[in-house]
Amino acid sequence: MKGFRTPPIAVALDAPDVSTAVLWATDVGPHVSTLKLGLQFYLAAGAEGVRRVAAAAPDCRIFLDLKLHDIPNTVAGACGAVADLAPDFVTVHSLGGSAMVSAAVEALPDTRITAVTVLTSMSPADLRAVGLEGSPADSVLRLAELSVRAGARALVCSPHEVAQVRAVVGGDVVLVTPGVRPPGAALGDQKRVSTPQQALSDGADLLVVGRPITGADDRAAAAARLLTGGLPE
Ligand code: C5P
Repeated sequence: MKGFRTPPIAVALDAPDVSTAVLWATDVGPHVSTLKLGLQFYLAAGAEGVRRVAAAAPDCRIFLDLKLHDIPNTVAGACGAVADLAPDFVTVHSLGGSAMVSAAVEALPDTRITAVTVLTSMSPADLRAVGLEGSPADSVLRLAELSVRAGARALVCSPHEVAQVRAVVGGDVVLVTPGVRPPGAALGDQKRVSTPQQALSDGADLLVVGRPITGADDRAAAAARLLTGGLPE
């Protein structure tokens, strides 16, 4: 992705409290481009918690993984409520539809509205049960195209889908991939993973990595070495 601060790593700061998130941000901030804060963090720590994390790593972009999904007017209002934080990325569910994605884009014109197509926790049977027929890949590609047409400038996708998604959305959309593990790292609850190198060579722009970095004894070293050599000694 052009103009994107490298290295292209977003650390998932899934921390139990604000002071831990601030500590982690301080450690990893010099070595990554982006810090990802999720819904749990936002609900517990609020805008003030986000500001404290951002202040601990002032060169990092802030990725608010709120996965918004509501009527367009309400999503626009929710986006407006975080505008002060100037997040670089805010996630919304593609399944909210084209008008909802567009409402988010209009409410946060300086943010990359980042669409989540199909949750990777959904099996093919789960998808059929909610009315999404066809293969999971069909749904992912259809929702990716819909979201980009509606103005989303980034998409979350599994590393195993990134090449197919890239082929349908073109080069300007930022593809964000969780499920990334350095060689030899514990998988945690991730089932299908790629290495950082594989995900990047398949077309990912930003790798979301949490526990392999935040759970390391030396978080700074783990972040610094993610792209070059796996785990710290
Ligand atoms: O610790 P780990 O590297 O597994 O963290 C991955 C992060 O990416 C977590 O914050 C998780 O919620 C998020 N995520 C994911 N899979 C998705 C979407 C988001 O792991 N499909």
